[in-house]
Amino acid sequence: MRTQVAIAGAGPAGLLLSHLLRLRGIDSVVLESRDRAYVERRQRAGMLEQGTVDVLRGSGVGERLDREGLTHHGLELRFGGAGHRIPLSELTGGRTVTIYAQTEIVKDLIAARPAAGGEIHFETEVLSVDPSAPSVTYRRDGRVETLECDVIAGCDGFHGVCRPAVPDTRLHEREFPFAWLGILADVPPSTDELIYAYSERGFALHSLRSPKISRLYLQVDPAEDVAAWPDERIWSELRARFATDDGWELRDGPILEKSITPMRSFVAEPMRHDRLFLAGDAAHIVPPTGAKGLNLAISDVIVLAEALGAWYDSGTTELLDAYSDTCLRRVWRAEHFSYWMTTLLHKDPRQDAFGHRLQLSHLEYVAASKAAATTLAENYVGAAPTL
Ligand code: FAD
Ligand code: DHB
Repeated sequence: MRTQVAIAGAGPAGLLLSHLLRLRGIDSVVLESRDRAYVERRQRAGMLEQGTVDVLRGSGVGERLDREGLTHHGLELRFGGAGHRIPLSELTGGRTVTIYAQTEIVKDLIAARPAAGGEIHFETEVLSVDPSAPSVTYRRDGRVETLECDVIAGCDGFHGVCRPAVPDTRLHEREFPFAWLGILADVPPSTDELIYAYSERGFALHSLRSPKISRLYLQVDPAEDVAAWPDERIWSELRARFATDDGWELRDGPILEKSITPMRSFVAEPMRHDRLFLAGDAAHIVPPTGAKGLNLAISDVIVLAEALGAWYDSGTTELLDAYSDTCLRRVWRAEHFSYWMTTLLHKDPRQDAFGHRLQLSHLEYVAASKAAATTLAENYVGAAPTL
C-alpha cells in the first residue's frame, strides 16, 4: 500500500489532519489500533477554544457543532463559600468558548469521510515507523504489512510508537500528586457556566455536555481505585466541595460513566525528525485544568496541514522546517497556563502552611483584579494566533 501522508492514530489530531489534507487534495491513510466504537465512545475533553470551533466550522464539519454546541461567555471560580465570575468575553474583546464533547468531534470527522475511499483503518496497530525511508509497519488481521508514504504524521497519543522514533528528544516532564475522577451523569447541569472550585477537600469542576447531561470532576489521589468511589460517595464529596454560603444546590442523578485520569505535564522536543512529524498528545500532555489538551492537538494539525499543503503545491520546505518551533511556542504557553491553573485550584497534599496562605491570596487576587482575570481569560479562550 502507498499514500502521500501516513497517519498513526484516529484521535482528534489524526482525524482532523486527514480531513484538512483531503480538502487540499492530499491523500492520507489513517491507521488506528482500536475499533470504531471504542474511539467514538472514549470520554475525554469537552471545552473548545474559539479558534478550534472556527476551524471545524470552516472545514465543513461544524454543522452539528453549531446546532448542539453550547457557547459560553464566562466561568466561575468558587472558593471560600462564594462564586466569582470571570467574564471571559468581556475581557477578551468578545471571544467565547464552546462546550462540545471530543466524542462528538471524533464522530463528525469519521462521518465526514467519503463513503468510498475514506481511508481510515480501525483495528490496525502501527508497530514501527521509519522516518528516513518514510514508511509505517502495521498489523491487521494478524498480518504484518508496510505502508509506503512521503510523510508520517505521528498522532498516536502519549503511549504511541511514533515519539520513540524521534532520536535525541529532550523530554520535559512533571507529575502531580493528584488525579481526576471524571463522571458523566444523567442529570441537568446545576449551572449554566463552568464552575472551577477550590476547597480544603480538594478541587472540583462542574462542566456539562448538554442541557440534560452533566460532566463533573473531582481531585483524587493518583493511587485511588475507582471501585472505592460508589455513586453516593461521589455526589456527597462533590456537594461538600461546591458548597456555598448562600445555599446553592447540586442536582444529582444516575452516573453513566466514571474513570480516573492521572495528571502530568510533558513536552518532547523537537516535534519532528526527518519525514516524521509528531502532533497532539504524542508530543505533549497538559494537566486538564486549563482545558488545553484537545485544543493543542487541533492547533498542531492546522499548522501541519498548511505546511504540507505548501510543500505539495510548490516544493517549499519553509513551513515544514518551522513546524516544530511554531507548535512549541503555543505548546509552552499552554503548558504554563495549565500548570498555573492546576496549582491555583488543587489542594497539594505536600503543601505547608505558608504555601497554603500564598494559594489563598492568589485566588483572591485573580477574583478581584481585572488584570489577573484578564490573563486567565486570554489564555482560557486561546492564545493569540501570533503566539
Ligand atoms: P488521542 O486522542 O490519544 O488519540 C491517539 C490515537 O492513537 C488513539 O485513538 C489511540 O488508540 C491511537 N493509537 C495509539 N497507539 C497506536 C498504535 N500503535 N497504532 C495505531 N493507533 C494507535 N483534555 C481536556 O482538555 N479536558 C479533559 O477533560 C481531558 N480528559 C482526558 C481524559 C483522558 C483519560 C485522557 C487520556 C485525555 C484527556 N484530555 C483532556 C486530553 C485530550 O483528550 C487529549 O489531549 C486529546 O485526546 C489529544 O488528541 P490526540 O489525537 O493527540 O490523541
Ligand atoms: C472539561 C474538561 C476540562 O478539563 C476543563 O478544564 C473544562 C471542561 C469538560 O470535559 O467539559
